[in-house]
Amino acid sequence: MKLVEKILEDLLKKSVEKIFPNAEVKDPVVQRTSNENFGDFQTNFAMINAKVFKKAPRVIAQDIIDNIPENEIIEKIEIAGPGFINIFIKNDFLVNYLPKLEKEEPDFSFITDKGTVVIDYSSPNIAKPMHIGHLRSTVIGDSIKRIYKYLGYDVIGDNHLGDWGTQFGKLIVAYRLWLDREHYEKDPIGEMERIYVKFEKEAEKNPELLEEARQELKKLQDGETENRKLWQEFIDLSLKEYNKIYRRMDIEFDTYYGESHYHSIMPEIVKMLLEKGIATYSEGAVVVFFDEKENLPPAIIQKKDGAFLYATSDLACIKFRRETYHPNRILYVTDERQQTHFKQVFNIARKLGWEDNYQHIWFGLMRFADGVFSTRKGNVIKLQELLDKAVEKAKAIIEEKNPELSEEEKSKIAEIIGIGAVKYADLSQNRISHIIFDWDKMLAFDGNTAPYLLYTYARIQSLKRKAKDNGYTLDNAEILINEKLERKLSLLLTQLPIIVMRAADDYKPNLIADYLFELAQTYNSFYNSLSVLKEEEKVLKSRLLLSHLAGEVLRKGLDLLGIKVVDKM
Ligand code: ARG
Repeated sequence: MKLVEKILEDLLKKSVEKIFPNAEVKDPVVQRTSNENFGDFQTNFAMINAKVFKKAPRVIAQDIIDNIPENEIIEKIEIAGPGFINIFIKNDFLVNYLPKLEKEEPDFSFITDKGTVVIDYSSPNIAKPMHIGHLRSTVIGDSIKRIYKYLGYDVIGDNHLGDWGTQFGKLIVAYRLWLDREHYEKDPIGEMERIYVKFEKEAEKNPELLEEARQELKKLQDGETENRKLWQEFIDLSLKEYNKIYRRMDIEFDTYYGESHYHSIMPEIVKMLLEKGIATYSEGAVVVFFDEKENLPPAIIQKKDGAFLYATSDLACIKFRRETYHPNRILYVTDERQQTHFKQVFNIARKLGWEDNYQHIWFGLMRFADGVFSTRKGNVIKLQELLDKAVEKAKAIIEEKNPELSEEEKSKIAEIIGIGAVKYADLSQNRISHIIFDWDKMLAFDGNTAPYLLYTYARIQSLKRKAKDNGYTLDNAEILINEKLERKLSLLLTQLPIIVMRAADDYKPNLIADYLFELAQTYNSFYNSLSVLKEEEKVLKSRLLLSHLAGEVLRKGLDLLGIKVVDKM
């Protein structure tokens, strides 16, 4: 179904075409107003195009208003201030439009750049536990993936595993010297991490170990069987652990191509860069230098000893993705510390003539309210523990709020609320800000939290159950708009698709969170000030249908954030 904003924009556009047939202007854009006195929607089209039309904005606005075609949506349209056009829409329109929200998909056919979007996210480093930075990447990347899918793009979610680097030479040496088999079998990543840290310590005293590690790495890269086997084992064991977390968090990837997948392409990249004069030799290494305007530090592409670097592997990866998927966007979700890296990589890719839409979707670091979170050795908070803690705390809250639920129900609900709260705490903030992890805030039942939204959803389901017990279903329900809050809720219910589009444009899931919070607040004031079950049948059914639709929009919106709902809590 056509978006409300599009219906209005098309009407405005027709009017503009009629009065200024050959004008070269961008199509009118309408936005929801912040104040109901200014109508439901507003456009500043007349003001921003006054120069083009060589007329006063208020005159243009009046012309546009006078030429709007016959329609069923606009109740009233007026000029305000310096030349805003304020639009009030008909209640009848909303009454007919809302029931379709459930039955028809939103029409996004006006989005012209649809195609394949590759999203590179999560991407932990093999043999190391996932840390909180990977949590943010996983949660944000997954939401962006859901958002683009909803809009009708083809999406490839790729987990770009760190499975090819100097750490493997060290790990192989450490494995042969110090592995504790029993620990390795119980907690493989824990043991790999232990021997890796030990290696670093021992190598400080005994630098020969580093030389040994280099040789083992070389053997691995040359395909020597024993080392390859060990390497594969490290990957398999790590992935097994990561997958437990992904499954628990309802995260799925389309591909798990790690850095190793691009190994064979890297020599070509170096050759191309040298041939095209983009890279040069500098003290035996192959380096790309940037000019003053580009203002980036030099990027090393190949070291003197022949080793390739992170940038090399990302360039090879771009080549592969372009040839394999012909994407129209490639998105990378990592923390802010990789900004320079991606600027260098995108810059070099463009110099190679690979004109794609690359975006580094970076986010701020995460800290705990009770101290700075740090990845320094031995001070890493493990994701598994974090999720356990969230679920445990959610469980305690449910025990208190709803003791009569069965043990099984409590556990199931706690899992959804705990995981939902962790995701929402992340997604509800502007990704650029440094987020502070505060358990109490995150699990609060009021305020902009997952429990508040889930509780609102559950409340709606409970209302529907009660109505059904009293013999009322949604059959033949019609929406009646008489009260202010009924109107406010109705209008808000039409907004999800446009909000999702904005969230996609800016790669900001928090816009969806803000909207859902506003919707939940509006629904709760509707529910608290207007009765439902005590009303006569027509009103009862209308409010029941509005409640039901609010629940459906909440569910859909939460799904775009990767959060599941519960029917009771
Ligand atoms: N493995 C890297 C890390 O943990 C993130 C990889 C991001 N993706 C990429 N194509 N470089 O920091």
